[in-house]
Amino acid sequence: MAVERTLSIIKPDATARNITGSINALFEDAGLRIVAQRRVRLTREMAEAFYAVHQERSFFGELVDYMISAPVVVQVLEGEDAIAKNREVMGATNPANADEGTVRKEFGLNVQENSVHGSDSPENAAIEIAFFFAGVDIVG
Ligand code: CMP
Repeated sequence: MAVERTLSIIKPDATARNITGSINALFEDAGLRIVAQRRVRLTREMAEAFYAVHQERSFFGELVDYMISAPVVVQVLEGEDAIAKNREVMGATNPANADEGTVRKEFGLNVQENSVHGSDSPENAAIEIAFFFAGVDIVG
């Protein structure tokens, strides 16, 4: 296993409920280190660009509206096998299907307001990290 970095977003439903610290505690308990973090209000253009891969999906418009409805916290998580580990800690996309103890089971509201996003592959992690952070912002 290699040390990897992955892009994580704590989403508007979580910032609105002031639970970013509780979510970060689950990341840290799992051995992931937060090596960059910034609270930001996404613009519509940023949200559309970030989720461009979903632009043909029926939920794209709703997803963009949701992602700009409140601030998000963008972060880089680092650790052994961080991409897969973060996806384990997040749980299934739909909180109704997520395992006990995962972020989405504990905090997610529904399939859209599911509290967190995490990169799904090393290629996408590199692209998504570069979307929000310069190298100098990431301190391991
Ligand atoms: P995320 O892991 O960020 O990837 C795309 C996001 O789209 C997903 O989390 C959810 O927030 C949202 N999403 C996925 N499926 C649906 C759906 N069926 N209806 C509404 N939103 C969805």
